Amino acid sequence: MKRVLRALVPASAALLVLLSANSTSVVAQEPAAEPGPLFAIGEDMWRASSGSCWQCHGNMGNGRPEMRDRPAGSDFRRTTLTVEQIAEVIRCGRPGTGMPFFGRNAYEGDNRCFGVTREELGNQAPAIGIPPMQARQIDALAQFIAYQFVGRGPATEEECLEFFGANASSCNRWPTRAELEAEGD
Ligand code: HEC
Repeated sequence: MKRVLRALVPASAALLVLLSANSTSVVAQEPAAEPGPLFAIGEDMWRASSGSCWQCHGNMGNGRPEMRDRPAGSDFRRTTLTVEQIAEVIRCGRPGTGMPFFGRNAYEGDNRCFGVTREELGNQAPAIGIPPMQARQIDALAQFIAYQFVGRGPATEEECLEFFGANASSCNRWPTRAELEAEGD
């Protein structure tokens, strides 16, 4: 019992830090000017649905889950996060939310996240993402998201077909560019 009580204090401190970090960056990011050096690796990972990001964030990264029983993930197109912050969320997850952590050995030993271990976060601890990823893979995914989705406007059927190829059946869920323009009128 003593152990549980001790664990709660650092957890709430960590969450306070998290919340204040979030509230300082409220401006939506512009699209990246050029892809980062690991972009192509991240692109392959996204195409292969590594880490099942689509399940919650949608195959076009707009926060519409592919699977009904999954929590709706954030819309990367409207994120306020920088590429480094995106990588941190992938590595550490987001405590107290449905965003799992993917960093191999994250929260352990010297690899603490937000200064705490998972145990210290108690019931706010994020779920373990599968598969665990190395730092390079996480950076690659973050660079891919930053260039492909951030600041790019709503997902369209054309964009989806361009990315996944003409046979992709899941693309007709997104509006066409013409439909979006008609909506805007
Ligand atoms: C089980 C569902 C789930 C899976 C799988 C998942 N996410 Fe998330 N993700 C979430 C949720 C829910 C949030 C929103 C958390 C919140 O409320 O702040 C989120 C938030 C994020 C954010 C923060 C964005 C922002 O603007 O604050 C990033 C970046 C992110 N996820 C990347 C990924 C990547 C990359 C993958 C795959 C490796 C992934 N997620 C897999 C559910 C998921």
